Amino acid sequence: MQTSTHEIADRIYRFSTCVPDAAPGGFTFNQFLIDADEPLLFHTGPRRMYPLVSQAVARIVPLERLRWITFGHVEADECGAMNEFLAAAPRAEVAHGAVGCMVSLDDLCDRPPRKLADGEVIDLGGRRVRHIDTPHVPHNWEARVLFEESTGTLFCGDLFTHAGNGPALTDGDIVGPALAAEELFHATALSPVTGSTIRRLAALEPRTLALMHGSSTHTRCAESLRLLADAYDLMVGKV
Ligand SMILES: [Fe+2]
Ligand SMILES: [Fe+2]
Repeated sequence: MQTSTHEIADRIYRFSTCVPDAAPGGFTFNQFLIDADEPLLFHTGPRRMYPLVSQAVARIVPLERLRWITFGHVEADECGAMNEFLAAAPRAEVAHGAVGCMVSLDDLCDRPPRKLADGEVIDLGGRRVRHIDTPHVPHNWEARVLFEESTGTLFCGDLFTHAGNGPALTDGDIVGPALAAEELFHATALSPVTGSTIRRLAALEPRTLALMHGSSTHTRCAESLRLLADAYDLMVGKV
């Protein structure tokens, strides 16, 4: 396996590792780095991927400069290597919503995590990231996303998950492939609030969607979020 690096927005880097057997056509695990005065990592990758991911990150910023370790929710691919990163970066803190800290991270993190209120902003120096709670969307009680305000980048985690090893950025449709992957994996915790939660993200009018599994995009971001919300509403029997 190899990890590729691509700058998807100004000083925002995507690291991508394709696992060939995880899905038909392969399945990518992507992490993102915001290179600011206080560099922030979104997703750590699983522990076993730490050598690959940490080497890729270190080509952009020295690991010891990392200040924030963040992720969408508590699963191995999102945060399995968080303690390895905390060990490599003495000033780094995990930052997550209150629920995630209370339920899991206060115990799992080797150093105490920073608890964020819904809507709270961290000023990275040159970049500002807003923490947004999205309970159970796409799954897990502690689920959240991050929105970087100056570039309009929404780090949307597992939303729009799709299989294959496509380009870092696509102009193509990301909703159809996401719904195909939903049929394959059934990964989304479909509920009466799924659609409305995703529509709140569309209202941010993001200019980039940074996906954890699949290609990121600069095109039709809010429209794709609304189409995804509509499709999930139909699936839960709400029209
Ligand atoms: Fe997940
Ligand atoms: Fe994931």
